[in-house]
Amino acid sequence: MCGIMGYLGERPAKDIIYTGLKRLEYRGYDSAGVAVLTKDVQTIKAVGDTSKLDLTKLPKSATIGIGHTRWATHGRPSAQNAHPHTYGDITLVHNGIIENYQDIKDSLKLSDLKSQTDSEVLAALINNNYQKGKISLIEALKRSLVEVSGTFGLVVMSPLESNQLLVARRGSPIVIGVGDIQNFVASDPSAIISHTDKVIYLEDDQIARVTRTSIEIFDLKLKHKNPNINRLSKSEAEATLGHYKTYLEKEIKEQPESLKNLMRGRVSQKGTVKLGGPNLDADDANNLEQILIIGCGTSYYAGLYAKYKLEEMLNMPVIVEHASEFRYRHGAYKSNSTLAIFISQSGETADVLASIQEAKRRHLKTMGIVNTIGSSVARAVEHGGIYLHAGQEVSVASTKAYSSMVSAILMFGAQLVYQRGGNSNITKEVAKELLMLPSEIKATFELHENIKKLTKQINHFEKWFYLGRNSLYPVALEGALKLTEVSYIHAQAFPTGEMKHGPISLVDNKHISILLLPEDETLYEKGISALEELIARGGTIFTISTRPKPKGSNYHLQVTYVGEYTEGLIYNICLQLLALEVATIRGVNIDRPRNLAKSVTVE
Ligand code: F6R
Repeated sequence: MCGIMGYLGERPAKDIIYTGLKRLEYRGYDSAGVAVLTKDVQTIKAVGDTSKLDLTKLPKSATIGIGHTRWATHGRPSAQNAHPHTYGDITLVHNGIIENYQDIKDSLKLSDLKSQTDSEVLAALINNNYQKGKISLIEALKRSLVEVSGTFGLVVMSPLESNQLLVARRGSPIVIGVGDIQNFVASDPSAIISHTDKVIYLEDDQIARVTRTSIEIFDLKLKHKNPNINRLSKSEAEATLGHYKTYLEKEIKEQPESLKNLMRGRVSQKGTVKLGGPNLDADDANNLEQILIIGCGTSYYAGLYAKYKLEEMLNMPVIVEHASEFRYRHGAYKSNSTLAIFISQSGETADVLASIQEAKRRHLKTMGIVNTIGSSVARAVEHGGIYLHAGQEVSVASTKAYSSMVSAILMFGAQLVYQRGGNSNITKEVAKELLMLPSEIKATFELHENIKKLTKQINHFEKWFYLGRNSLYPVALEGALKLTEVSYIHAQAFPTGEMKHGPISLVDNKHISILLLPEDETLYEKGISALEELIARGGTIFTISTRPKPKGSNYHLQVTYVGEYTEGLIYNICLQLLALEVATIRGVNIDRPRNLAKSVTVE
């Protein structure tokens, strides 16, 4: 949430910061700003995305600076509330939330603030501790950070110590790019990958002092820590649109490839699944009594789909929790025999990170399913996990990560069945289906033109229900979320059988139901009964099924049946394309829907 970029070297800072911020805009795009340091600090700010910034107002001669692209938490999107914030001798950019900002404001009697942000209060606190340079800036920062509660990813600069950027982190990611007579700071590596592939991930409660030629890491007592330099791979951090108009479409269409990347070297034609990442020995695997899956949004829905399959595969209870709920819930889990799997595309979602801490506190085994290499979730879990290798997702609405998450958990389940001496046919069947998926998804893209045509006919509906039974219910939930996010339509998903327990009262001529009919004969028939009940009440029905159009359905898509474990992923492709087409007709900003941000690093 929010993007941070900092630079110090020998080149014009404003240009490097600007290009870095452009790559970070998917994290937030309410407002933006850049500040550079010569003798003084010069700052530009604008409401909207970075293209609104007038860089000509900043000097080319400045070779040190910081920038920010914002997703508002405290204070509405406005130029005043945009970062960087300057108070006295301190200029900073900040991601996260300072929870005790009001107390600090009161105790410092701050009446001259220019913004409504907690970040400006933090700048004032550091400035107050700095006392016009009576102590070193790093000492002032250290003293200030001890006083604040909440989360921060922070870069601070001051004209009184103009050869350094000070960086700090608690709960909000910060990465330092290691250059040659130049160094970089960013909230994620994609902003700096074009300059360097050597990075240091700052840990929580660490401070870094970065100059043009040195990087020193400290803990909150200013004790030196050894920096750990990691290598980035370009494909992980760089993404371009190519011939597509939107990242959403590009990422939907990348799924055959992203799934191949997930399975490469892990799933074999012989029907085996071998994952090197999960760190569970034979005893751990055999002693497992339940699995807990935790995530947010689309990642949560990927977990919910997996629940239906894992429970059957493993004959073991699988509980799925919203991370935002789990972190405050007091569920009863057996400590040593529960495996908690954390799913996250970004690997930086605040609620997921807090849930990992909570799971550790309860002595659960923790494992991650993560797309972003080296991210906080990947580093926080104790029993390894699975990297998705889906490539960067730029579109705020998640698509290719979802299919990879579902497939990754199925892979894990298939391996666990084998480890626990279960039915080896299950492992073989999962492997077979997974290997078929890339070509089956490609074949499903042939429905895209048809979906475009159908969308023109149904776009006017105001109320959208998504209905699915059994494992198609989480698919319905994810489909409704996708439509809601990118088209601003209020779409809601229900288990098909729940309609008559309430929601059916809403059915009228403004309403359309997207009804997912499964392959299973019995459940298909139950779906047809629901269809008839909806028709009887004047509803319009759009069916998706592996069979031809059923009687009474108004609109229909026929999809292929890959097999019992992966069937939902094919329906999901259709729902992703449907959301894309509705958003296209409605002319909204498809890759950056209003009010959202790609990685939610605040609670
Ligand atoms: C939906 C979407 C969000 C994310 C959620 C979790 O399209 O993008 O619902 O899925 O914020 O994010 P990660 O997976 O990064 O933890």
